Amino acid sequence: MALNPHDYRGYIEGWSSDILPYYHDLAPKLPVGGVFVEVGIYRGRSLCYLIERLHELGNFTIVSAVDNWDWHPEDWDKFIENLRSTGLASSVCCEMGGSVSAAEWRKNESIDFCFLDASHDYENVKADLTAWWPKIKPGGVFAGHDYSGVAPDNPHRGVAVAVDEFFKARGHHNLISNPKNTTIWEVTKP
Ligand SMILES: C[S@@+](CC[C@H](N)C(=O)[O-])C[C@H]1O[C@@H](n2cnc3c(N)ncnc32)[C@H](O)[C@@H]1O
Repeated sequence: MALNPHDYRGYIEGWSSDILPYYHDLAPKLPVGGVFVEVGIYRGRSLCYLIERLHELGNFTIVSAVDNWDWHPEDWDKFIENLRSTGLASSVCCEMGGSVSAAEWRKNESIDFCFLDASHDYENVKADLTAWWPKIKPGGVFAGHDYSGVAPDNPHRGVAVAVDEFFKARGHHNLISNPKNTTIWEVTKP
């Protein structure tokens, strides 16, 4: 049965209702054998969807999963349980640790797709953008979640402020924000 981003494995908890349709549409554009990284996994909902969608398209590329898994004590075990029940464990390279240090060891211009959904405060998002941007290949896609405006009472305002500031300073005007009513931001590296 074809994957449906609006009706996907309800038992995998997560905050990804708008990431799933985004991944659904993006996956056909991702290269077979590319380098894909999701930063901010929690219990694996968005990650599992991305992998299942890639498989549906015949793309069996392994996806790197970066998280420090220190949000709740049970997150890691739930994540592993979800990988087992979906049968996707062999399609994931788990990197347990901080986002910035996970970026540091990578070669510049080596990543085809990186998705940020880790910290949501301004300083950490800025640090993540600074760390991961050089690692994206020209033509690669850098994107993230919870770009939902700068209203003072928005708990995720740091995401939009940091993203806007980061790409404006670099003269990259190809920032796509909120495609199809999502809270996604996306930049294709020139
Ligand atoms: C919003 S959740 C990710 C949700 C997930 N994408 C989903 O589909 O449900 C954020 C995750 O980022 C992780 N995280 C937050 N800051 C981090 C950091 N600086 N480095 C690594 N992981 C981090 C947390 O442990 C948490 O699991």
